Formats: sequence, structure tokens, C-alpha cells
Amino acid sequence: MREMNTEKRTKGLLLKGGRIVDPATGRDEVADLLIEAGRVKDVGKLSAAVDSDRCEMIDVTGLVVAPGLIDMHVHLREPGREDEETIESGSHAAVKGGLTAVVPMANTNPPTDDQTAVRFVRERGREVGLTRILPVAAVTKQQEGKELTEIAELVDAGAVAISDDGVPVRSAELMRRALEYAKMFGIPVISHAEDPDLSADGQMHEGLVSTSLGLHGIPAAAEESMVSRDLILARLTGSHVHIAHVSAKGSVELIRGAKAQGVRVTAETAPHYCTLTDESIAETFDTNLKVNPPLRTQEDVQAVIKGLVDGTLDVIASDHAPHSIAEKEVEFPAAPCGMIGMETMLGIVLTKLVHGGHLSLSQALARLSLGPASALGIEGGTLEPGSPAHLTIIDLGKEWVVDPSTFASKSRNCPFTGWRLTGLPMLTIVDGRVVYTSPDREARGQRAKARASAKNR
Ligand code: DOR
Repeated sequence: MREMNTEKRTKGLLLKGGRIVDPATGRDEVADLLIEAGRVKDVGKLSAAVDSDRCEMIDVTGLVVAPGLIDMHVHLREPGREDEETIESGSHAAVKGGLTAVVPMANTNPPTDDQTAVRFVRERGREVGLTRILPVAAVTKQQEGKELTEIAELVDAGAVAISDDGVPVRSAELMRRALEYAKMFGIPVISHAEDPDLSADGQMHEGLVSTSLGLHGIPAAAEESMVSRDLILARLTGSHVHIAHVSAKGSVELIRGAKAQGVRVTAETAPHYCTLTDESIAETFDTNLKVNPPLRTQEDVQAVIKGLVDGTLDVIASDHAPHSIAEKEVEFPAAPCGMIGMETMLGIVLTKLVHGGHLSLSQALARLSLGPASALGIEGGTLEPGSPAHLTIIDLGKEWVVDPSTFASKSRNCPFTGWRLTGLPMLTIVDGRVVYTSPDREARGQRAKARASAKNR
């Protein structure tokens, strides 16, 4: 993997002949895109007009030039579980997955619940200098659900949202106050919607499969009831709630209804809730399929996809949750919840949702870039001239097989091993700098160079 060149780019960069797909403007055309001083300068037929001495040129013919993907739900485990992931390894995984920004949750150890902790995550991300790391801070101190954090200070330190993700905010009164404070500072509260009494001791979705396996179930109502509460609190306070990792049909319907009533809600799902069901647990007993909220039924999968199609679900995020091999290689009830996903998210979305005929390419890219940028109120998600030059260059037709041994992540808890996917990021560009080039592109570049020097000899 190529490392980032940390010097500020003084030369322009011309991406020549790509298919520019910008869901923010509806643009979908073959054109050139010029980057200068870290921003998109121009889009159009530019190559004749650009001074090649002042500009590096990359031929992206046959590739899609998309706004940089933003993964607004990841767990990077630093501080606390650096054996599972660090900000550095997570950054490498992110850019390999085409992610120009990632949003790590606050359930580190200790939790990211004060200014020092938020600054640490941000600064470490900057030092690594690959993708942008935009931290979420905790809603409650130590994520204990008892006392609110100092939200003003956390925002001042650079938190882009607050969430106790990993655990719910059990008290409706605390959640109400969190929403009120977050509104004052213009950030969303990200809701991990789970009623802990209904989900207690649960191992997987409650239904026919859990009954037949004799595993304690988590009913969809554990999610739906908390989604319902948080929508009602968002309506009461006029604040913005973002519902994380939606897995259940009932949640999609509740969010759709709330949006129709004008409640300030955005929502997200993850690739696994669009592709996997509880049946896969019965088939394999793979602990990498154990996740919270749990994989549900085919009916839920259909409803989640429908939610992405009609925009009820604004965002696709990976919920990348690394766990060690030792902790996952145990019997199902003893395993922790979570699966990694930053390096497979784009491939799964393209293969199953775009090539699978559910979403247009523009819709999929919207859920992966514009949606999260809007939900977080951050720059990005468009290729309009003047916008920051965060871009993901994609080979839509590239076939590959998921092999976690090749991942940049430190963890291997991937449920998609062996899946044949079509579509892969080729280049990841952050602030106008190429921070990742896929090995395929590097090999192609070397062959082209060798040909050029042979010609000149
Ligand atoms: O499966 C999950 N794993 N769900 C969460 O909410 C937390 C995450 C983790 O941190 O491992």
C-alpha cells in the first residue's frame, strides 16, 4: 500500500477521462476533474487547457470518479484495545476501502468522554495522515448512562456528534437533555437504539431460527421501542437524532413515518443488514455473524433495502467492530458482538445493491458520501467546484474475492470471507492528495512506465 505524501501538494492534479458521478448535483458524465490547492477547481473537458508542467495527470478512463466515501460508524479501539485496531491500522483499512473520512465511536477504553480524549483521537488521526478521523464523543460520562458529558467542551475539542454507541442511553430524561444540548451546538445525537431489558442475554434475533437453535433471542421490538422513544424525544426537543445501525422492518417504518411528520431524523444501516439473515447463523454457527443489533429475517432485509431506495435510510455505514481471533473463536454465546467492514463495504454495496439491481450507482454513492456528510453537517459529499477534494476512484467491474488475510485492519472477524464481489476502490484522494493506490493500479502504472522508457531508448 502506498503511503501518503505529507507535503502540501503545490502542483495541480488532473483526473483525466473518468465517469464523474456526483449525486449532489445529478452529474453523471465522462469528463476531466482538476484539483488545485486541495479543492476541486473545475470539471469538464479540461485536458487541452491544462498546463501539463503545472499539473500531474492521472488517467482514470473507465473508472468512476465519486465524492469521497464517508463511513460515519466505525470502532477503532484506540485507546484500550490496540491489539484489535489502532487509529493507524484503521486509517490504512479505511483508505483501502475508499473511505476519505471515518467517524470512530466513543466506546474506547477509557471512553472518549472528555476534551483530552477527543483531541487525542483527532490528533492521532492527523499524525497518521491518511483518512480524516472525525470523532464521536460519549453522551454520558464513562458511558455509564448516569451523568451527561460536557457537551460544549467536547464539540469545542472537535467531536462531530455524541453517542454512547455500544450501549443505549437507558434514561429518557438524560436522552432528552442530550438532545437539547446537542441542538445548541448544532450536532446530532447518534442513537444506539436498544431496550436493554428486552435484549438482555440475547444472542441473536428472536424468531424461528433462535428457537430451533435454542439460543436466547433479541426481539425486533428491543430496537423498535427505542427507535420510537428517540423519535418522540427528537420531536419534543426539535433536535436532530441519527438512528444508528437500523436492522428491523419496524424501525424503518417508524423512521419513515417520523420523517413524513417533519421530525429531524436521519438514519443509517450497514451492509450486513442488507445481505445477511439469522438463517446464516444456523448454517455456519460462525461467531463473526454475531452482531448487535442482530442479523434478522429476509423480510427485514427487504425492508432495509426499501428504506435505502426511498431515502428513509440516508446512510450506509460499516459499523466496523474489530474483535480478536481469541475472543471470537469460542462458542456462540461467549463471543462478543461485532464484525469488521471498512474494506468490504463498497464491494458489498456495489455487488449486492447496485449490480443486484436495487439502487442506482448515484443512489448508492449518495448513501455513502452525501448522506453521511449531511447527517453530520460536515463538508464533503459533492464534486462541485470549490468543494474539498476528497474523492474515491472506483473500478465498477473489478472482480475480487474477500480474503481477510490481505486486510489492512488488525482484526479478521469478517463474515464475508470467500464472497466474490464486483467493484473496488482504485484510488483514494483526501484533500487533493492520493493517499491510497490499489496494487492493480500500481502494477498498471509500472507497466506503462516501462513501456514509455523502452520507447525512449
Ligand atoms: O456489534 C456491535 N459491536 N454493536 C455495537 O453496538 C458495538 C460494537 C462493538 O463495539 O464491538
